[in-house]
Amino acid sequence: MPGEKPCWILVGGMRRLGAALAEDLARDHALVLTGSREAEPVWLKALERRTSIRTLRWDAMDPDLGTQMMADLAALESDGIRLEGAVLLAGAFPEQRFGHWTMDDLERTWRLNLSFPTLCAQALAPKLADGACLQFLLDASIHHPFLKRLPHSASKAGLASLIPGLARLLAPRIRVVGHALGTVLPDVSNDADRLAARTLLQRNGEPADVARALRFAAQSPYLTGEIITQDGGR
Ligand SMILES: NC(=O)c1ccc[n+]([C@@H]2O[C@H](COP(=O)([O-])OP(=O)(O)OC[C@H]3O[C@@H](n4cnc5c(N)ncnc54)[C@H](OP(=O)(O)O)[C@@H]3O)[C@@H](O)[C@H]2O)c1
Repeated sequence: MPGEKPCWILVGGMRRLGAALAEDLARDHALVLTGSREAEPVWLKALERRTSIRTLRWDAMDPDLGTQMMADLAALESDGIRLEGAVLLAGAFPEQRFGHWTMDDLERTWRLNLSFPTLCAQALAPKLADGACLQFLLDASIHHPFLKRLPHSASKAGLASLIPGLARLLAPRIRVVGHALGTVLPDVSNDADRLAARTLLQRNGEPADVARALRFAAQSPYLTGEIITQDGGR
């Protein structure tokens, strides 16, 4: 994989929005993609024809996750792979209505949406190249919480509060940026047209909107500790 293209790691880069971003970024990046399960083989083969790809199995529910991450990152390093950017997108979007909350369900949401990316940031930051940008995908619900998914909104708000603190901890070597997104790939339970109609721009986002902002943040050496909101003016 060592070569001319910068290498980014996408945590949660093998499904849905992560997969769409990997397809976009493959144009000018080598990629390390993680997921809790194997990538879809036909999709992966097609991507491998376009750029260098490594895949890693990082499961937020794995009790040995910390050890696994350290071993995988050491292996990448010894193979000469230098990570020049990281995007943390793994998460869950469960409907969890007030009155039905349980400790197990809440802990699963906190773990996947908050503990996992926090731990990934801790593991990845020392391994990133000088000047790299560590980017988190958040949700515009940090500004106006979803009432049917309040634990999700709370976990993303928790992650949002990490951004300025992590930026202070990791400066000046690493920059940290968050992206608060409106609807990009609607969940099957949501009416995409109705969501689009609630925005000033009368549309939902596209993966290309997110990829453009990721590239912008990576290429903006004076930007850190900030959250960029893209929600079409909801
Ligand atoms: N889609 C949107 O419209 C939208 C809007 C606002 C914000 N966002 C944010 O953008 C990010 C990606 O969105 P999405 O819609 O693609 O999310 P998603 O469908 O919930 O998938 C997120 C990723 O999490 C990974 N994942 C699931 N369980 C895991 C586990 N136990 N351990 C490790 N990884 C696990 C999945 O990969 P595997 O199944 O391979 O593990 C998948 O790549 C999320 O952070 C989301 O909050 C998305």
